[in-house]
Amino acid sequence: MRGTQIKQLLRDLDALLVAHFYQKDRIVALADIVGDSLQLAQKASASPKNLVVFCGVGFMGESLKILAPQKEVIMPKLACCSMAKMLEGADFDTSLEQLRSLGIEDLLPITYINSSARIKAKVGKAGGFVCTSANASKIFAHAQKSQQKIFFLPDRCLGVNLAHMHGLKSAILGLDGPETIKEAEVICYNGFCAVHQLFKPSDIEFFRQKYPDILIAVHPECAPEVVQLADFVGSTSQIINFVQNLPLEQKVAVGTEINLIKRLRPKNTYVLSSSVPECPTMNETDLDDLFSVLKAYKNHSPYNCISVEAEVAKWAKVALDKMMELS
Ligand code: 13P
Ligand code: SF4
Repeated sequence: MRGTQIKQLLRDLDALLVAHFYQKDRIVALADIVGDSLQLAQKASASPKNLVVFCGVGFMGESLKILAPQKEVIMPKLACCSMAKMLEGADFDTSLEQLRSLGIEDLLPITYINSSARIKAKVGKAGGFVCTSANASKIFAHAQKSQQKIFFLPDRCLGVNLAHMHGLKSAILGLDGPETIKEAEVICYNGFCAVHQLFKPSDIEFFRQKYPDILIAVHPECAPEVVQLADFVGSTSQIINFVQNLPLEQKVAVGTEINLIKRLRPKNTYVLSSSVPECPTMNETDLDDLFSVLKAYKNHSPYNCISVEAEVAKWAKVALDKMMELS
C-alpha cells in the first residue's frame, strides 16, 4: 500500500529515489539506485532527474547537493552519521594548532566523505581531498606523491588501515604521544564508527574455530586488529561483489551493517558479531517518512530540503571534485 503510493508520488514528481546499502529492505526495494557512498554520489549527480530523494545519512545528501547544486535534494530523515558528528569545524582548526605546536606544518588533509560540508570545505581550502572507502587507497596513493604528511579525518580506523596498506607509519591525535605523532607519515583524527567497533578479533577466532575454511570479509571502518586478520577488506559495494562471487558452499562471515549482510545471500553467510551491528541513523528512515516527504513536496510545502551555504559549498566542491576526478 505505502509502496504503491510512494511509487506513484515518485512518478508524479519525476523524482529519483536513491538509497544506501544500509537502508532497510523495504526502502531498497523501491529505490532507482542503490549503492555505496561513491556510487550514489556519482550516479545521482549524473542523473538527468532534477529532484532526488536521498535515503541515507546527512553527509550523503549534502555531498550530492554540493556536487550537483542545480538539483533539489530532499531526505526523508535528516539522520546524521555519528562518526561525522565527532568532528566539528572548530576541531579541525584545533587539531592543526596542536600539530603546529609539535612543529608539524606541512600537511595534506584528506577527509572521509563521512564528514560535514564544513569539514570538506576546510579540507578543500587547504588543498586536500575527500575520499570514500571505495577509492581511499587510490586517493592515498595520489596523495603520497606530494611527499607531505597526510592528516586523515575523521575515521582513525580507516586512516590507520590505509597507512598500513601503503606501508606508512601512522599515529592518532589525542591517543599517541608527541614523538609517535612527529614520526608518523599519516596522522589520524580520533573519530570512529561505533557500529564497526563491534567486530573484534575474538569474533574472527570464534568463526575460524567453528568453521576452519570460513572467509572473513570486513569494512575498513573496522579496527586495524580486525582488518589485519580478515581475508577481504572493502567498501560496501566491494564486500557485496566479493561475497556474490564466492561459490555457494563457501562460508563467509561479514563485518559491516546488518541490513546489507542479511541481503547478501540466503545461506552460508554469517554476521561477524554476536551483537547486532545496526546503524541507528541509517535505520531511522522508513516508508512513512518517505511517503510524508514526497507528499509534502507535491503539496508545495517541502521540508528536509538540503541546502549548503554558498562559501562552504564552493570549497567543499573543490575537495569533492578532486575525488571524483581521481575515482
Ligand atoms: P560505503 O562508502 O562503503 O558505502 O560506507 C559508508 C558507510 O557509512 C560505512 O559505514
Ligand atoms: Fe556512520 Fe557508522 Fe552508520 Fe556508516 S555505519 S553511517 S560510519 S555511524
